[in-house]
Amino acid sequence: MIEMIVVLVIAYLLGSIPSGLIIGKVFYKTDIRQHGSGNLGGTNTFRTLGVKAGLTVTLADILKGTLAAALPNLFAIDLHPLIPGVLAVLGHTYPIFAGFRGGKAVATSGGVLLFYAPFLFITLLASFFVSLYITKYVSLSSMIAGGVAVLYVLTTGFFQGWDIPLLIVVSLLASFVIYRHRANINRIINKTEPKIKWL
Ligand code: G3P
Repeated sequence: MIEMIVVLVIAYLLGSIPSGLIIGKVFYKTDIRQHGSGNLGGTNTFRTLGVKAGLTVTLADILKGTLAAALPNLFAIDLHPLIPGVLAVLGHTYPIFAGFRGGKAVATSGGVLLFYAPFLFITLLASFFVSLYITKYVSLSSMIAGGVAVLYVLTTGFFQGWDIPLLIVVSLLASFVIYRHRANINRIINKTEPKIKWL
């Protein structure tokens, strides 16, 4: 029981590491929360500090989810990997190390799925880039990937057998991603959401 609590706390703390804030402040003397969308994620780092910083932060945020989901294996305890995975997503979104103002749950959720369901992760990555190519909105593409994740789990469940924990977690995370993008949704409706220019 104690081990389980320790793993869950580590997962939350891991998710709480504000990679965007660290990379921005250490290497660029910039607080990305004062720029662009104000979000502490890979997209806003990319927007504010460029490709190198954006990619580094995105990969770091993915890694947080992957590592958190791997914790039960690493600690050799009987705990479903999606549980510490969700804790890492909560840490990433409400980080104790950054005033509880974090990212929008996309990359870290992806990292959890990369560990638990790698083919689902690859499918989401593909759907994200197809949607990005068509719409030019990162936020909309993130939400669409959330919807694709739910559809994927429902379809594979129907044909190959249900993974109920995955269905529950993916549905919750997809809803949470939409909830975290409320401001983006308003901007898309008002046509003030920035589009990417490089794809
Ligand atoms: O992962 C976050 C992305 O979907 C939107 O980020 O900075 O455009 O609000 P941002």
